[in-house]
Amino acid sequence: MEKTTSLAGSAGGTETRRDTLTVIDNRTGKTYELPIVHGCIRATDLRKIKVDEADFGLMSYDPAFLNTACCISRITYIDGERGILRYRGYPIEELAEKSTFLETAYLLIHGELPTRSQLEDWTYNITHHTFIHESIKKFLDGFHYDAHPMGMLISTVAALSTFYVEAKDIFNPESRRKQTYRLLGKMPTIAAFAYRHSLGLPYVYPDNDLSYAGNFLNMLFKTTELKYRPNPTLERALDVLFILHADHEQNCSTNAMRSVGSSHVDPYSATAAACAALYGPLHGGANEAVLRMLMEIGSVSRVPDYIRRVKAGEVRLMGFGHRVYKNYDPRARIIKQVAYEVFDVMGRNPLLDIALEIERIALEDDYFVTRKLYPNVDFYSGLIYQSMGLPVTMFPVLFAIARTAGWIAQWQEMLADPEQKIARPRQVYLGYGKREYIPIDQRV
Ligand code: CMC
Repeated sequence: MEKTTSLAGSAGGTETRRDTLTVIDNRTGKTYELPIVHGCIRATDLRKIKVDEADFGLMSYDPAFLNTACCISRITYIDGERGILRYRGYPIEELAEKSTFLETAYLLIHGELPTRSQLEDWTYNITHHTFIHESIKKFLDGFHYDAHPMGMLISTVAALSTFYVEAKDIFNPESRRKQTYRLLGKMPTIAAFAYRHSLGLPYVYPDNDLSYAGNFLNMLFKTTELKYRPNPTLERALDVLFILHADHEQNCSTNAMRSVGSSHVDPYSATAAACAALYGPLHGGANEAVLRMLMEIGSVSRVPDYIRRVKAGEVRLMGFGHRVYKNYDPRARIIKQVAYEVFDVMGRNPLLDIALEIERIALEDDYFVTRKLYPNVDFYSGLIYQSMGLPVTMFPVLFAIARTAGWIAQWQEMLADPEQKIARPRQVYLGYGKREYIPIDQRV
């Protein structure tokens, strides 16, 4: 693995360059040479660095994984400094323009774009796994009318594991294929049923004649018409949003999918865990939080005061900033374009002006510029969903539908990786040493 390169031209003639890191432990004076592979040292190599034989060995301390690669992946590439996002090598801009969500999901999960017949089979199989068991409907009925649809989604996806017990057979490719069809097929159905339940409307069954996004719109919005015909602009906008949200390498929910999946639990339970991680306002819940923020601000004239509060540390500017992107999120750029197309059909969302003013001020303000805070994927997506007639509580649910493709791809990659084991981080214990148990009547 070690690579040695000779660099000519230095003052002393030839200098040797090795792909290693030399570490001197000043506690012992010992020197260690650790291999560098793919720009990483192995954290376990640090364990060789000990003060004596009884020492556990050095660990790296990295809360929130700021600088720790937890896997080798070939799915999604992000260059946060330059604002680049690619799935399996294909730029997100090209996929958003030329692909469909189902084709992109195939690409993420299988590694290559499908041939025509592969895409037909893939689409057929997912389309024919969109129905949910009638008992799941009853299960959904048990939720209170104002239950958050994300809570309903998390629980119902977990409940799928009780319907498909063979899903536990995770090392059987045939079983994995089946669960993949089911997960991709049923997520929109569960999501739409959760929405209809919250309105007290009858559930609308899937329509196999429609596209993935078109059928989702049908299950959300169909009323008395015999055949629901989705508006092509809205159908395409939703499909593009699904493409943009389909994967994003090792984000919080994907990490949850991999981590929970590493215990070899069935994919429905792992996906429920990923959905739960996505629910939080710092992750997939951010698009909901953005809309709530825009509504709270209420008018363009109140934007400067809100920015002042952000800078004073009182509130966060939701939809801004990203752990990886230190540049404009490429997805935000595409979404902004899609937003205008949707507004052409549905009318301009009055909150857009507030969003544009926030972006204008923030992109010029030192606080945001120095911290490299730019709009992220969630800044404009909520405006589109709202214009389509969806309540804010549904926004993270839409994110979850799309991200299921990435979760499955990452889960399969994790299972196939011989280096992966059950995820089990270490800790630095700074609590009490051994103490005597104190009987309750002696406690103060
Ligand atoms: N508003 C105001 N200040 C911010 C924001 C924000 N949205 N984001 C980061 N900062 C500041 C933060 O206070 C810190 O300042 P200082 O150095 O003075 O302490 C600095 O920028 C670095 O922030 P951080 O919290 O260390 O950055 P992080 O990488 O831990 O957080 C983030 C990333 C996405 C959680 C954060 O930017 C944030 O909370 N954004 C708002 C929520 C949001 O939009 N989330 C959606 C992310 S994109 C979709 C997804 O992947 O789920």
